[in-house]
Amino acid sequence: MTKSGEKPWGGRFSEPTNKNVETFTASIHYDKRLYRYDIEGSIAHAKMLAKQGIITESEMTLIVKSLREILKEIEQDRFDFQPGDEDIHMAVEKRLIEKIGDVGGKLHTARSRNDQIALDMRLYLRDEIKTIIRQITALKSAFLETAKAELHTVMPGYTHVQKAQPVLLSHYFLAYWEMLDRDQDRLKDCLKRVNVMPLGACALSGTGLSIDRAYVAKLLKFPKISQNSMDAVSDRDFVAEFIFASSMIIMHLSRYCEDLILWSSDEFAFVEIADSFTTGSSIMPQKKNPDVAELIRGKTGRIYGNLMGILTVLKGLPMTYDRDLQEDKEGLFDTVDTLESCLEILKEMVKNLRFDKAHMLKAASSGYSTATDVAEYLVNKGVPFRQAHGIVGRLVAHCVKVKKPLENLKMDDFRKFYAGFENDIYDYLTAEQSVNLRRLIGGTAKESVSARIKQIESI
Ligand code: ARG
Repeated sequence: MTKSGEKPWGGRFSEPTNKNVETFTASIHYDKRLYRYDIEGSIAHAKMLAKQGIITESEMTLIVKSLREILKEIEQDRFDFQPGDEDIHMAVEKRLIEKIGDVGGKLHTARSRNDQIALDMRLYLRDEIKTIIRQITALKSAFLETAKAELHTVMPGYTHVQKAQPVLLSHYFLAYWEMLDRDQDRLKDCLKRVNVMPLGACALSGTGLSIDRAYVAKLLKFPKISQNSMDAVSDRDFVAEFIFASSMIIMHLSRYCEDLILWSSDEFAFVEIADSFTTGSSIMPQKKNPDVAELIRGKTGRIYGNLMGILTVLKGLPMTYDRDLQEDKEGLFDTVDTLESCLEILKEMVKNLRFDKAHMLKAASSGYSTATDVAEYLVNKGVPFRQAHGIVGRLVAHCVKVKKPLENLKMDDFRKFYAGFENDIYDYLTAEQSVNLRRLIGGTAKESVSARIKQIESI
């Protein structure tokens, strides 16, 4: 048992803390990763206390110098973390008092761990969001490069996993570029709400001491300060919002990986993932498994779980700070770590793919995938679309019966189904022709895709 009297809050306690309670309530084993932010926040707070005359300049200098030493101790793995320290705030403060005695005890003036942890979380998350935004930029570039390299690769586009219409592989990759671009916007927007300075809220209602919150915000480069002390200590919306944004990102990655897994199977055989990004089977010597893609798909579940976790922690919490809020951290850290590792490895894997262009074209050319183009051809000849649909349906049924692709039909065959077919129908039948017919904005024609690539490059 640790004597409660040894704890910073031990004054009103006559019994020591039960050892199990100490272990159960401790968060130090995971929140110690916030040490840098905790110390950065404390330094800014100490500077403000001195500026306001709440502590003296020389006390502040001593506190700041010692906090910097503590930072070094932690970074160099010389800091002795104890389970009894409870959390990172207590561990740092305890060490500070150990080093400089009573002066160290002045740091926590006009501050509570409630606003301190809110600050640490915000400082931490704003850094990580910036890292993730940069990682997404890198992944977007990898997709864009692939799109540029595959501008001539025609593949079958699918709906319901059934061959639908031919598209360019470039167009497919740019679809993921668009998703990731929205993901980045969501993160940038989320960052606005993370980037708010809560210090000064203290336990829940502020302080009577004359502090300068705007000064702390300036030192820590926060564009905004929180406007309600009760909200400031109870708000974890920004955590939930970030995990939601992360859920969307990993959902997009997961969908991409699903395609990659299918496409690298022998059944599709559209793509080969480099040996260095696949793994083997311990029993079947011929196997090359897309484990990286599968794991990204699998890890999506963890992040969704973390989202459900934080939403559930927050639901029904009475105002203001409740210890339940300590449960915000592990899910958040896990989300950040999982997402960052997935973004990193996926970017590398994308650069290590080899597409079988000939096979993709062959697949795009079979299955009457240009039937819609034939119907549109008839629309151009004045046939109402519903009728055109019927005519081409019958035409395709005939082709299936005689086992011929559309482009092998003779003019006479076409005319049996509609007298107005002319020789120019042969410009509508191959997969390449079909792709290039869809020249609209957002379409899959080479012209449209190139235009989008140019636009993206000029952003
Ligand atoms: N470890 C706590 C957390 O993560 C810090 C705040 C604790 N505040 C308190 N009054 N016990 O939320």
